[in-house]
Amino acid sequence: MRVLVGCEYSGTVRDAFIARGHDAVSCDLLPTERPGPHYQGSVLDLLGGQHWDLGIFHPPCTYLTSAGLFRNAGNPERQAMTEEALQFVRLLLDAGIERIALENPVGRIGTAVRKSSQTIQPYDFGEDASKATCLWLKNLPLLVADPSNRYPGRWVIDPRNGKTVERWSNQTDSGQNNLPPSKDRWKDRSRTYQGIADAMADQWGGGTVQSVALHAAPVVRQEAQYSMQF
Ligand SMILES: C[S@@+](CC[C@H](N)C(=O)[O-])C[C@H]1O[C@@H](n2cnc3c(N)ncnc32)[C@H](O)[C@@H]1O
Repeated sequence: MRVLVGCEYSGTVRDAFIARGHDAVSCDLLPTERPGPHYQGSVLDLLGGQHWDLGIFHPPCTYLTSAGLFRNAGNPERQAMTEEALQFVRLLLDAGIERIALENPVGRIGTAVRKSSQTIQPYDFGEDASKATCLWLKNLPLLVADPSNRYPGRWVIDPRNGKTVERWSNQTDSGQNNLPPSKDRWKDRSRTYQGIADAMADQWGGGTVQSVALHAAPVVRQEAQYSMQF
């Protein structure tokens, strides 16, 4: 399968597909962090004229994420940046590729373009981290998490409201991201989690039906037991 991983400097998703025998290429304005097939330049350069079986895109979220949208009020420059970011997202979703996944946090895409297909969490894919991540899918099944692979968080009292909540390593007790300020903070926050990259490659890489059936089995059985009890 020919896989284009657009807006990826880390090589994480690219290498997960390569490890499973696919012909995957990452693309970013930045160089790749890990050696591997990478185009440094705009992903838009790769959308016409080449055949891709699957496109996975991680466009920048700075002007799209709910966490930053409050800064748009009374700021026409920022509003224009949001519109530009949305236009980029539309181009990626409309690319002439049979199967497409686009990833972004909760934010403007869901209201301006279309509702996301699903929201996933890294801890459901074996990672010690919390980060609500939306996926917009075209001709792809929803990613399915294996419940036995869930990373359990630590239970703490949220100092803001006294409630008991579950937190992971990337969070403070009050739920904020705990990475200290640094020049690479945005990179450290935006790198795709390995567990999610592995699930994408396992479930979207051709062995899809079998992988999804295997992963979904425990959940389906639970629901069947439930309905029998009632
Ligand atoms: C939120 S980060 C995604 C990082 C990704 N999850 C990873 O693991 O590498 C967004 C990336 O999009 C890249 N980018 C922005 N505009 C682009 C374009 N036109 N073509 C390709 N990459 C672009 C940025 O350089 C940035 O690295």
